[in-house]
Amino acid sequence: MKILVTGGTGYIGSHTVVELLAKGYEVIIVDDLSNSSIEVLGNIEKITGKKPLFEQFNLTDTEKTGAFFRNNTDIGGIIHFAAFKAVGESVEFPLKYYHNNLVSLINILHGMKENTIRNIVFSSSCTVYGQPAILPVKEDAPLQKAWSPYGNTKQISEDILNDTSKVTDIQAILLRYFNPIGAHESTLIGELPLGEPNSLMPYITQTAIGKRPFLRVWGNDYDTPDGTAIRDYLHVTDLAKAHVIAVERMLNSKMKQKVEVFNLGTGNGFSVMQVIDSFERSTGVRLNYQIMGRRAGDIEQVWADTDFANKELGWTAEKNLDEMTLSAWKWEKVLAKEWAPK
Ligand code: WQD
Repeated sequence: MKILVTGGTGYIGSHTVVELLAKGYEVIIVDDLSNSSIEVLGNIEKITGKKPLFEQFNLTDTEKTGAFFRNNTDIGGIIHFAAFKAVGESVEFPLKYYHNNLVSLINILHGMKENTIRNIVFSSSCTVYGQPAILPVKEDAPLQKAWSPYGNTKQISEDILNDTSKVTDIQAILLRYFNPIGAHESTLIGELPLGEPNSLMPYITQTAIGKRPFLRVWGNDYDTPDGTAIRDYLHVTDLAKAHVIAVERMLNSKMKQKVEVFNLGTGNGFSVMQVIDSFERSTGVRLNYQIMGRRAGDIEQVWADTDFANKELGWTAEKNLDEMTLSAWKWEKVLAKEWAPK
């Protein structure tokens, strides 16, 4: 029995494949390498001593996806990461995002029906909540109209999974990620941002290593203690572990309803300034930053109510902010070829 990990050479996908292999699962990755690189496979093998199976194609290709499922009839569960995920780019190229993110999921669901594969774990996002009225935000909080086509593809994907599960044997676990940051302790895998990073952590580490002149802090006039926006950052390895627990919950028929939703965060919110302070404290490196105006589309503050994931999945994020920021820095130094892995 194999676990299919789509987008498995990506940031969260590769960390999840490492945890699956470490627990003895056989893994097959499907990835089009549009936002990742093939050497991730070798590094996964260096970490775990096992090499996942790999096929390179885009899941919007109906022909290839159909053929894949016809040739792989021993898939016990799917963890679906493969999607475009840059918020700003999605505003500029909405059709690219709707086509890629939705047709991929639809093709996978057709394949599941053909092969009677019942189990899918879906990579969703706290972005579906918009700016919650109540914090910490619970899974049953009302979803707000997405602020970007990217966020909308996550909401529509959740609807597709809910509606499909009602009339098929397919059951789904929707994992709503908060802000994953950091890198694997081996410094062999981590976030590979192509081009200028949109997100905070890689921009901090690229500034610290000298690739960027300074970090732009997008706004310090929010209604928060230090005026900068608050997010719930969690270590990517903690996030990866939650995916193994979720797929095992399905394989062991522990689900209590056909679709279950879990917030994956630490339950603690940290501001941009607090992340900067953590980075300087954990690495001893001073960061050059400038306060700018707000970034369009940013919400003010969000952090997760993690009770349901803690109790129902038995999962709790373990790493603290300083461990997250230090691991991101170690990875940046590998990328700059300064840091030899242990
Ligand atoms: C975090 C905070 C920024 C960069 C988005 C998506 C989410 C997920 C993660 C895909 C915000 C501030 C950032 C910078 C800054 N995407 N910031 N200077 O926007 O919370 O979430 O990325 O899975 O779905 O919505 O993450 O890291 O971009 O920003 O001040 O150079 O850091 O304003 O307050 P975000 P982020």
